[in-house]
Amino acid sequence: MTLPRIAPWILITLGCVALAGCSSSRERASRTNAAVDPAVDIHSYGNPDEVRPHHLSLDLELDFATNIITGETTIEFRREAPTRRMVLDTRDLEINAVHGLDASGGERELDFKLRKPDPKLGAALEIALPEDITSIRVHYRTSPGAIAVQWLEPQLTAGGEHPFLFTQSQSIHARSWIPCMDSPGVRVTYDATVRVPAELQAVMSAEPAAADEPRVFRFEMPQSIPPYLIALAVGELDSRDISPRVRIYAEPSVVDKAAWEFADTETMIQTVEEMYGPYVWGRYDLLVLPPSFPFGGMENPRLSFLTPTVLAGDRTLVSLIAHELAHSWSGNLVTNATWRDFWINEGFTVYVERRVVEALFGREIAEMEATLGLRDLREDIAEFGPEHEFTKLAPDLAGYDPDDAFSNVPYEKGYLLLRLIEEHVGRDAFDRFLKELFERHAFGNLTTAQIADEMRARLFTPDPGLEEKIRLDEWLYAPGLPDNCPEPHSDEFEAVSDAVWRFSSGADPATLDTENWRTTHWLQFIRALPQTMGTERMQDLDQAYGFTISGNSEIFFAWSRHAARNNYEPALPTIELFLKEVGRKKFLTPLYGDLVENPKTADFARRVYREARSGYHPIAQREIERVVGFGSSDGEAAPR
Ligand code: BES
Ligand code: ZN
Repeated sequence: MTLPRIAPWILITLGCVALAGCSSSRERASRTNAAVDPAVDIHSYGNPDEVRPHHLSLDLELDFATNIITGETTIEFRREAPTRRMVLDTRDLEINAVHGLDASGGERELDFKLRKPDPKLGAALEIALPEDITSIRVHYRTSPGAIAVQWLEPQLTAGGEHPFLFTQSQSIHARSWIPCMDSPGVRVTYDATVRVPAELQAVMSAEPAAADEPRVFRFEMPQSIPPYLIALAVGELDSRDISPRVRIYAEPSVVDKAAWEFADTETMIQTVEEMYGPYVWGRYDLLVLPPSFPFGGMENPRLSFLTPTVLAGDRTLVSLIAHELAHSWSGNLVTNATWRDFWINEGFTVYVERRVVEALFGREIAEMEATLGLRDLREDIAEFGPEHEFTKLAPDLAGYDPDDAFSNVPYEKGYLLLRLIEEHVGRDAFDRFLKELFERHAFGNLTTAQIADEMRARLFTPDPGLEEKIRLDEWLYAPGLPDNCPEPHSDEFEAVSDAVWRFSSGADPATLDTENWRTTHWLQFIRALPQTMGTERMQDLDQAYGFTISGNSEIFFAWSRHAARNNYEPALPTIELFLKEVGRKKFLTPLYGDLVENPKTADFARRVYREARSGYHPIAQREIERVVGFGSSDGEAAPR
């Protein structure tokens, strides 16, 4: 690998792997919550079984002076059962009025009650619904602290001149900017009118439509999607077309770099289409957000949202694009029925992602990424404890926000289950199964129990012995990692292990053979280093490989964790810059966690958090505050 480029977080200011027990048994599967009614969404107050929304019309006016969206949401619905009420999810919304529309176009005020908010779920909005009403319109305002929305001051953008706004609705945050039945099982089409300040452009997870007034953007989404996929971003944007259906949006100073980095996107789409059927969403555009975006990527239909930390300059982090693209089949076309079934979105997506990586970049690279994924999974299981509810593929989330359970379990344990099945039934049969699954359930939802039925009926029946070999129920409903877990294998990583061993035995890092290493090798190397290293040994590594000044966010992050644990002072200033620039939870949460755990760096972590907090998305603030132990009494108001 060539010398790492200097990190942007530097340029800005200069100008254990304890293995989780693999000891599950069939009995453990019986101690599960498989009996919980799986189709009921415990994270929504909505009553879709009585009145089922099918279309939303949004009219939104954005005020960057007050950080408030003033909105009207019109909900068209079908009556499924006799009822006199409609219940919507809201969170921190001020409801000004609710109108009902009847079939002849008449509009009148309806009675409503905003119930007491639940800290996890927000407040139910109960609307009295006379029989003649065919759609309702809610007039409302969002709160400046709305959990889905980040309002960025100009200095937090690359251009520095204009403000920026973006939303993140998954998992249950759509309700903080749109009153709706915020459940993945309630699919709607939508249209939107968005009014923004001059010079800003709005983009959404929808098709742009003609607008005849200045500062007004219109959108139409003709395909039905769950509310967590409704997304909006507003800022100074430029774009580059990289194929007839792929356009890269980003701030002007970032757009060329992004277009270069993502040059393989069209090939990726064609690769998935060949395996699993047509891409049905029309365009596949990518939006690179400012660095405070709290995720790596978000699969908003037609327009994936991406962190700029994926711009490594060498295209080695683009499996993230493969991942968000794969959601166009698994997740967006066929969606988890409830958040308990989240592994269906993510496990299938990681499976497809790795198949794309294999097709484009080769088996070895896919295996290296799978090996790193298994390492992440084992670390998470060890941290939760191997019997923990959240180590189940289908956990009981009662009393939790779905985001509380977020970990590598749905991703990597889900992936490993699918890989295990593929290994037993053969790739052709498994690909056929997936393709048919996407076809038969297109624009639909699946529970874990339904997926299990599908697998049994379509994959296991020819061979009655398969059920026993795969042990599906144990995989789905028991905690930990079953002992028939497939083991990814990478020859390249054997060489990395050898290098780690030589370093640990005292070798000078400069003498190790790292010539053809790419990001995956470096990540494996850094993560396998001894947990405790003296400053001198860390300095040797830094001198040889420049980890502290790496412009590759993943490499820098992996290295910073050692720096935090070992109180390696030379890296602390750069860690501070990184924490102040990047808002991606995957990096922030563990890094703040390591820093706080080490008594020597705990105060540093709290000071940096206090200074960085206002630049983080509310979702990231909430999570990091748990790690650094901040509440509203620490001098600054907590987000809510
Ligand atoms: N849909 C997720 C992001 C997400 C999950 C947001 C749960 C909110 C709640 C997205 O597809 C994702 O998995 N992103 C990963 C990318 C990675 C696995 C390649 C991320 O952000 O790190
Ligand atoms: Zn995903």
